[in-house]
Amino acid sequence: MIRLNQLVATYTTVRGTVKAVDGVDLEIPSGNIVGIAGESGCGKTTLLKVIYGDLVYPLALDSGGVDYVFADDDRQEVTTETIQQYWFKRISYIPQSSMSSLNPVVKIRKQFVDFLEPKANKEETLDRVRQFIRQLDLPAEALDSYPHQLSGGMRQRMMVALATFFQPDIILADEPTTALDVVVQKGILLLLVRLQRQMQNTVLFVSHDMGVHYQISHRMLIMYAAKAVEFGESAEVFSAPLHPYTRMLIDSLPNIGDDHMRQGVSGRPPSLWDDLRGCRFAARCPLATQRCRDEEPAFIEHRPNHFAACHYAGDELPKVEPSA
Ligand SMILES: Nc1ncnc2c1ncn2[C@@H]1O[C@H](COP(=O)(O)OP(=O)(O)OP(=O)(O)O)[C@@H](O)[C@H]1O
Ligand SMILES: [Mg+2]
Repeated sequence: MIRLNQLVATYTTVRGTVKAVDGVDLEIPSGNIVGIAGESGCGKTTLLKVIYGDLVYPLALDSGGVDYVFADDDRQEVTTETIQQYWFKRISYIPQSSMSSLNPVVKIRKQFVDFLEPKANKEETLDRVRQFIRQLDLPAEALDSYPHQLSGGMRQRMMVALATFFQPDIILADEPTTALDVVVQKGILLLLVRLQRQMQNTVLFVSHDMGVHYQISHRMLIMYAAKAVEFGESAEVFSAPLHPYTRMLIDSLPNIGDDHMRQGVSGRPPSLWDDLRGCRFAARCPLATQRCRDEEPAFIEHRPNHFAACHYAGDELPKVEPSA
């Protein structure tokens, strides 16, 4: 279980500090694939970095924190400050671009070995890693390559392999398949799903693709302008979304054989530097009233295990007439 307590994370810039995650408060139960979606810049990567405890300047935790409760010893208190010691073993991170996260001048084996416990028998572990990556359709020699010697798909497969080898309780996957072609993409997603099924661990999976979420995510977290705006079981989020933003994201999905007008979400999210009074989605929301512009909606449980931050949660959106 991962408990996010009023998490506020900031970046320090020459202009001052900006809140990239602003008051996210929710509990993620274990054993699920949790899909995270929302437009570019809404704080998805920042949220994963905070959960991974990778707080390097200019990113900092401003207030709040994360509690991690692992399946086998729930007595252990683990926080964002102490989670680093569990990297790879209990929590792992597949970053948005594996090219930029792997050190280009160091062989992959070396980069991974650096994280193994010093006392562990490295050679024996490496043998097991070689066996493991072979099961994932990677040549054992790939471990002895430099990142640029592998194709984009192989590199990402390697990241998945390294991230899952120790069967960590939590895997954070940040758009693990963008920039890959569709066939390779599908292979990697299937691999992630298969491994999650075997290990029954928690996977936080960031993707812009609501179609992919519909297929693989058990739960959905929708973010908007640094806030969590909806969280619930996918089946319910997709069939009965509470937040108008979620509804519009889902409505923008094309359905085969359906000539219904797809609207998408027009306009852009507000800048995080602006005065963000009221509901951050109000300017784009077809349901917005003065109340929305004045008063920030709380993130509350409207239905069992289904949360949203909207004054008009669950209300129907006005119908869009197809243009001639
Ligand atoms: N190093 C940085 N310095 C300053 N601001 C940053 C930095 N990294 C991110 N931000 C800002 O923090 C906000 C959240 O960024 P983040 O990368 O978490 O978004 P994201 O949802 O992952 O976007 P994307 O879908 O494009 O990956 C954005 O407004 C972004 O401009
Ligand atoms: Mg990102």
